[in-house]
Amino acid sequence: MPQKQAENPGNSGNTVVRRFSVAPMMDWTDRHCRFFLRLLSKQTLLYTEMVTTGALLHNDAHRFLRHDASEHPLALQLGGSVPADLAACARLAEDAGYDEVNLNVGCPSDRVQNNMIGACLMAHPALVADCVKAMRDAVSTPVTVKHRIGINGRDSYAELCDFVGQVREAGCRSFTVHARIAILEGLSPKENREVPPLRYEVAAQLKADFPDLEIVLNGGIKTLEECQAHLETFDGVMLGREAYHNPYLLAEVDQRLFGSDAPVVSRSEVLAQLRPYIVAHMESGGAMHHVTRHILGLAQGFKGARRFRQLLSADIHKAAQPLAVFDQAVELLQGR
Ligand SMILES: Cc1cc2nc3c(=O)[nH]c(=O)nc-3n(C[C@H](O)[C@H](O)[C@H](O)COP(=O)(O)O)c2cc1C
Repeated sequence: MPQKQAENPGNSGNTVVRRFSVAPMMDWTDRHCRFFLRLLSKQTLLYTEMVTTGALLHNDAHRFLRHDASEHPLALQLGGSVPADLAACARLAEDAGYDEVNLNVGCPSDRVQNNMIGACLMAHPALVADCVKAMRDAVSTPVTVKHRIGINGRDSYAELCDFVGQVREAGCRSFTVHARIAILEGLSPKENREVPPLRYEVAAQLKADFPDLEIVLNGGIKTLEECQAHLETFDGVMLGREAYHNPYLLAEVDQRLFGSDAPVVSRSEVLAQLRPYIVAHMESGGAMHHVTRHILGLAQGFKGARRFRQLLSADIHKAAQPLAVFDQAVELLQGR
């Protein structure tokens, strides 16, 4: 089994607390979504959507890196496999104040595979190690990797250990493990989050065999009880879809997973805090639904949840005064 390696006291990857995080999700965890989620939990580590090196280096980097000061702790996820480009992007991330730079080695879409981005890189551990090394040499911000437990044709435990071992040699100390393989041909990205079975025991074995590494578990986690149970084995848990569809789950994270004694924020308090943000966004030319599309799950489980969703996903598009529709939706959650 792999040799233990001494910690690098520099950018060891351990200054950011990754006990609970919300996953990077394309089209979902944009800056508006993250601003909203931050109102629910102060301690949760938030991730951006994946940004490719091409987008950052050849487009308007400011647009992709822009975030509100309140979003911290905040990690930028990069997609790419050219070490020099990733190093340049890591520098941009550091300059923009991100707390962590994460490399995507888990996304299975065809589009990214063609560009050697995402899960296909699990077949190229030496290249991923070069990428991580180049990024670590460029910045003092922690560099982490999010990956699968394998890909079709390369899904043995020995191959997983080889991948993690080589990337560890390059200095990565924190790995987020989506505990299913990715099937690179024939499944859509959505199916690749549902069809290959979850294998938490493989991720647990990884933690046992690499005890010096921070291993964060991802995939299929739905409740804070499950989080607490997984935290017996893992250093952290990352939630994606459940955090998005049922965001109020985050309201108790600080108390139950971080021991905070601050009062749990109510849904109506969250909406009251979100309102000035929406107003400012609209004053700068944005549309209300850019923000409110991310809050549709806030009423989940309540009488009125349907009406809440309908007001914010349909009625606002027809309204002359969208803020009045927002206020009507807020009324439905008064006192909740
Ligand atoms: C809409 C959507 C977009 C996603 N985009 C990304 C992405 O940009 N980068 C990434 O590493 N994973 C992405 N994922 C995968 C999630 O980060 C996470 O690994 C996966 O959903 C499993 O966690 P969950 O079961 O808690 O949702 C995406 C998932 C969803 C649902």
